[in-house]
Amino acid sequence: MNVQRNLSLSANIVKLFCITVLLTSTVMAQDTAVISLQNNAKWTISKHIYGHFSEHLGRCIYDGFWVDPSLPVNKKDRIRLDVVEALKKIKVPNLRWPGGCFADEYHWRDGIGPRDQRPKMVNTNWGGVTEDNSFGTHEFLELCSLIGCEPFIAGNVGSGTVEEMSKWIEYLNFDGESPMSKIRKENGREKPWKVSFWGVGNETWGCGGNMTPEFYADQYKRFASFAKNYPGAPLKKVVSGASDADYNWTEVCMKKIPLHMMWGTGLHYYTLPSGQWSKKGSATSFDEPEYFATMKNALFMDELVTRHSAIMDKYDPEKRVALVVDEWGIWTDVEPGTNPGFLYQQNSLRDALVAASTLNIFNNHSERVRMANLAQTVNVLQALILTEKEKMLLTPTYHVFDLFKVHQDAKYLPVNLKSPEYISGGKKNPSVNVSASIDSFGVTHISLVNIHPTKQITTVVYLNDIVAKNISGQILTASQLTSINTFEKPNNVVISNFSGFKKNGSNLTVTLPAKSIVVLELK
Ligand code: AHR
Repeated sequence: MNVQRNLSLSANIVKLFCITVLLTSTVMAQDTAVISLQNNAKWTISKHIYGHFSEHLGRCIYDGFWVDPSLPVNKKDRIRLDVVEALKKIKVPNLRWPGGCFADEYHWRDGIGPRDQRPKMVNTNWGGVTEDNSFGTHEFLELCSLIGCEPFIAGNVGSGTVEEMSKWIEYLNFDGESPMSKIRKENGREKPWKVSFWGVGNETWGCGGNMTPEFYADQYKRFASFAKNYPGAPLKKVVSGASDADYNWTEVCMKKIPLHMMWGTGLHYYTLPSGQWSKKGSATSFDEPEYFATMKNALFMDELVTRHSAIMDKYDPEKRVALVVDEWGIWTDVEPGTNPGFLYQQNSLRDALVAASTLNIFNNHSERVRMANLAQTVNVLQALILTEKEKMLLTPTYHVFDLFKVHQDAKYLPVNLKSPEYISGGKKNPSVNVSASIDSFGVTHISLVNIHPTKQITTVVYLNDIVAKNISGQILTASQLTSINTFEKPNNVVISNFSGFKKNGSNLTVTLPAKSIVVLELK
């Protein structure tokens, strides 16, 4: 009897132990993220992943960068200097221009010479407005030099000619005596600019000419053959790449275009909250299911770059060609009452979480992703900056680029991550995403994102010999996912100091608040 009681008691203790272990592990699985940092610096995270995009669209160029002479703000010529200063602070490495769809109806000769003699044109893609060409080649390159970034110019393949593109490059990059360098000098620029990043068309599968990949690959070879490398000015030519999951486009371009003819191939992917182009969803008013869907759509970037990279690996196992995500970001419905062709949208904490998660994805794929351009810098789509007459505000997305600038040109540190799930409507997203790098001074940065809207997540980071004598942190969060900066309250969503971490031996425990972005610095 006693033996039996003892046996059943031990069985119960074992059962209880098992349940406790199970529960603990379930609680762990639900609430704790585990990150293991490998002290094994690999390739460099190219600074060009942190690039931006400025199209002749809505109020990006005109009324964004390039303002009316009477506007009471500091300007150089008509370039707004408060905007320039803000972009310098986040170390914008490159700026893509003039489009977008606009690039394939842009004729560069219309944008040089005395401004009052420049011909006008209709911007058929964006609102049918009259473009006065007052912002052209010289003005764009002056803007880049003020920001301290490299230009990334998209040439016109769709409605342009091989000769037109070829002559533009001669105008920009040739130092000797030639018909184009003569005109450049007459227009006030003695020395060539030596532009390097060169897009051969834009969205040639759509607004850039509705081509098949086979036809475009042949066109690419024609245009690229006459896009010459002048002395001291070698071009980095970028193929007009795939849209979203059009893997066949990448396959055909990689197969048909010799590797030595391209520096990179593009990819465009926009996060649509609803997943539908017809009704994308509001920038400022959304519920939790729509937020969940938005993050799912944003995190799809990981699958896209993985699969496009796998195709590139087949033709380029040495990874000489870059994957250039030259358009990305969240695309919502326009702000009510604004011109639908101008793509003006507000920017919330949700957008910051989209940006930070995407940048973590790019860092983690930086072996192949070596350039990217958020669409678009000022007043259009997922903007860094919004302006209203002389007022200007920095969006939550701007602050993400400020936090993440520490990764630019740092060595990538591989990370293993086990994240709790964020479950909604029976679907799952990982709550946490992360990337890490070590810079040339031996300082490590870890960028952590908790997309869960309500749960704080305890995150254990195994440091594995990474130096961490001094640790500091910064955080971007806000009271609501819909929190925004407005011209009345421009500092509603801003970066603040973060102290929610504790070091225990070689581990770090970080308490990540719900809906937050944290960057830790370890020295
Ligand atoms: O960024 C807005 C537009 O989106 C670009 O002009 C085009 O390339 C893309 O379809």
